[in-house]
Amino acid sequence: MRAEAITDVQTKSTTTDVVTAADRAVERQVIDSLRSARPGDTVLGEEYGEAAAPGPGAVRWILDPIDGTVNYLYGLPQYAVSLAAEVDGVVRAGVVINAATGDEWTATLGGGAWRDGRRLRCSERTELAQSLVGTGFGYDAKRRAHQGAVLAQLITQVRDIRRFGAAALDLCAVGEGLLDAYFEKGLNPWDHAAGGLIAAEAGAIVAGLAGAPPGLDMVVAAPSAVFTPLHDLLVELDAAGGA
Ligand code: IPD
Ligand code: CA
Ligand code: CA
Ligand code: CA
Repeated sequence: MRAEAITDVQTKSTTTDVVTAADRAVERQVIDSLRSARPGDTVLGEEYGEAAAPGPGAVRWILDPIDGTVNYLYGLPQYAVSLAAEVDGVVRAGVVINAATGDEWTATLGGGAWRDGRRLRCSERTELAQSLVGTGFGYDAKRRAHQGAVLAQLITQVRDIRRFGAAALDLCAVGEGLLDAYFEKGLNPWDHAAGGLIAAEAGAIVAGLAGAPPGLDMVVAAPSAVFTPLHDLLVELDAAGGA
């Protein structure tokens, strides 16, 4: 479907941050299904937030109804539903489904990452200079300018950069070895919870900066030999504002 065909489009935080009727409808549908199947659980979704904080030991579902809304708007077949199950702050299971193609990635904590019955392994790359690195940009203009400045420096140190437009699928691509590594600043839990577990269960290190868990400040996913040089370079470039 072309962008012109999707007419129910609104903006959220900035003019580049779009939401469609489909984002809201998918989130509503998944929330309703989860509520009727598991009434004691809570849901954190991008469009409707969180109705209640989870109690100890309770399952909190983390949902991105459409990850890659701009791709959806343009009919680019790279957008997904991302759903993770978290208990006491630890993501225990995740599923990402490319809604355009039907491809599905799953993982459980300690149980590996899978696609169509095939166990996934991340790439065995050892050199940052030979790594294909995915990334993405937020919707805030100031953050974008910073991300662009970081990228201008990073591009000289890696094989190449890709920006496919859906963080959850980017993390699955790391799990599958289609990207050697991925990083992005400014991601929310619904962007990285499921895909992060899939990449980690496929053998990648998935973390934030300086030992922090993956989060708003940064998500880096890479095989262990590439993680440290990429992480250290990102710390340097991030602090220098990309300059
Ligand atoms: C966005 C996508 C994009 C990433 C942005 C996210 P949305 O999610 O994952 O690739 O670069 O940071 O906000 O808004 O399409 O769900
Ligand atoms: Ca969005
Ligand atoms: Ca998203
Ligand atoms: Ca979304």
